[in-house]
Amino acid sequence: MQSKLSFPLSFLSLLSSATAAVIDPSSFASNAILLRDVVVIGGGSSGTYAAVNLKRAGHSVALIEKEARLGGHVDTFQDPATGGIFDYGVVALLNTSFVRDYFAFFQEPLMDIPASNPGALDAFANLRTDAKNVTLPPTVPWTDAAAVFGAILGYSAQISQYPFLVGGYNLPNPVPADLLLPFGDFLAKYNLTAFANMAFRFDQGMGNILATTTLYAFKYLPKTTVDAFVGLAPPPVMSATLNFQGLYDKALAYLGSGTNAFVNSHVLAIDRSGPRVLVAVLTPSGPRLISAKKLLVAIQPKASSLQGLGLDLSVQENNIFGQFNNSYYWDIVIKNSGIPPNVGVTNVDLNASLAIAPMPGLYGFAPAPLPGYTNAYYGSPSFRTDAQVKAETLAAVKKYVAANGLPATSPQIVGFNSHAPFWLTVSPSKIASGFYSQLNALQGQRNTWWTGATWVAHDSTAIWDWSEATLLPALKGSL
Ligand SMILES: Cc1cc2nc3c(=O)[nH]c(=O)nc-3n(C[C@H](O)[C@H](O)[C@H](O)COP(=O)(O)OP(=O)(O)OC[C@H]3O[C@@H](n4cnc5c(N)ncnc54)[C@H](O)[C@@H]3O)c2cc1C
Ligand SMILES: *[C@@H]1O[C@H](CO)[C@@H](O)[C@H](O)[C@H]1NC(C)=O
Ligand SMILES: *[C@@H]1O[C@H](CO)[C@@H](O)[C@H](O)[C@H]1NC(C)=O
Ligand SMILES: *[C@@H]1O[C@H](CO)[C@@H](O)[C@H](O)[C@H]1NC(C)=O
Ligand SMILES: *[C@@H]1O[C@H](CO)[C@@H](O)[C@H](O)[C@H]1NC(C)=O
Ligand SMILES: *[C@@H]1O[C@H](CO)[C@@H](O)[C@H](O)[C@H]1NC(C)=O
Repeated sequence: MQSKLSFPLSFLSLLSSATAAVIDPSSFASNAILLRDVVVIGGGSSGTYAAVNLKRAGHSVALIEKEARLGGHVDTFQDPATGGIFDYGVVALLNTSFVRDYFAFFQEPLMDIPASNPGALDAFANLRTDAKNVTLPPTVPWTDAAAVFGAILGYSAQISQYPFLVGGYNLPNPVPADLLLPFGDFLAKYNLTAFANMAFRFDQGMGNILATTTLYAFKYLPKTTVDAFVGLAPPPVMSATLNFQGLYDKALAYLGSGTNAFVNSHVLAIDRSGPRVLVAVLTPSGPRLISAKKLLVAIQPKASSLQGLGLDLSVQENNIFGQFNNSYYWDIVIKNSGIPPNVGVTNVDLNASLAIAPMPGLYGFAPAPLPGYTNAYYGSPSFRTDAQVKAETLAAVKKYVAANGLPATSPQIVGFNSHAPFWLTVSPSKIASGFYSQLNALQGQRNTWWTGATWVAHDSTAIWDWSEATLLPALKGSL
């Protein structure tokens, strides 16, 4: 079988010389060529959902994922000694019919997220400076529970004025001016500053939440999510086994690992010049050429990432995707942090506007559902190395423990993932001048469809709803 493993050289030489990849199918062994209705690139939330839906509807699919597993932003920690398991990436979904149906199809149990955790204690500390517990002064508007509840209702009332925010980015022209304000200015304008901490906790990974454009803050935290989390609607749900990875492992088996779903696989080139889309991919069992009617791109569409696929981008595609900036987000599991198992620490800065801690930095520490473990989340508007984030996290844990008179431990990072590029954004002026109409106009062009957080929000429930309502009917209609 050695010949199957050696990559076709004629194809490689074409790659290095051509600007737009032109794939020569004759350089692939005939048993390495797969005919499919749809080839999906990226096996995270959006790509896996689409591939499963298409297969259930009787279409043939190929799904290509670079990592060793499906699931994308799902991260499930497993204690190597005890087998104890918990999610620390994606943890919460809304209780919608598509969510219930998806989990029921794979016989993966869901449970309501408990309303509150009795005995949990909230601490606040500046994790960038001295890390000592602080008492928030009453001038911080979100310290007053009644004001917070009023602000939640006010936020819901505001967001309800923009029903077009549900689903994709179908913005009216002109785009309402409030959606283009920095979110901190929006909160101040409507006397909703008591909402700032809820936004900080929920809109993680967007960079500095008060500087984020209000449109993006609204996309991240829609009224349905707010209502579910504050008890105004049925509660959100989580994996009853604290193992969202289980769903994705079953999806991989359902699709057919190595036949229709290829993990640890690398797209080398994509050629859309002919009537079918050709995707050259290096899988663990050798090169494959997938010839499909349609391509569905389910990775974050930064121009650099798309170029990394060897995708033959048009001038227009390059121009649109080249405008995105992105934020950075990490999730972390710490063993033996020394922080008591009932204490959650929120990073605050009493010198900053509304005491919201500036990024780059930690959002805070939260007890993990498994004794002995603490979760941490870190965000940044700009590039940081993993080493910097790890060092700062460990330093902050040790400082918190020392500054608050807790017994010293030897904390260790045992789970760590960078989720960059996280939120893809463009400037308010680009939003105002129709960026999202241009982006949406790419759907279906050149046999190519697009899905994922950038087209909807970093919100799996919303992505699946939009996939069912909008993307998948259009894609199926094009087959
Ligand atoms: C820490 C964290 C916690 C979150 N918690 C929640 C939550 O509780 N609830 C919620 O609804 N949302 C949550 N989110 C938001 C989450 O982003 C979305 O739910 C959802 O995962 C976005 O789906 P996606 O398909 O766009 O991206 P992803 O799920 O990231 O999928 C993209 C996939 O493409 C793959 N890929 C990238 N490049 C290539 C390539 N060149 N070739 C092949 N494959 C490639 C990636 O490996 C990945 O598997 C969380 C996000 C993070 C980071
Ligand atoms: C979700 O909602 C349904 C319908 O309202 C309800 O029966 C169920 O208990 C809820 N929770 C879960 C985990 O399914
Ligand atoms: C702003 O909200 C606070 C409660 O958070 C309330 O006490 C105050 O009266 C409001 N101010 C105005 C001008 O509405
Ligand atoms: C955002 O992207 C644009 C275009 O790529 C670039 O000019 C600009 O410097 C970026 N801004 C930030 C804050 O990275
Ligand atoms: C707040 O600012 C003052 C003056 O700049 C400084 O002395 C103090 O250390 C700062 N405190 C924090 C918590 O950053
Ligand atoms: C810090 O705050 C936590 C949570 O309220 C509390 O349990 C702990 O005793 C506090 N420690 C100090 C030193 O104030």
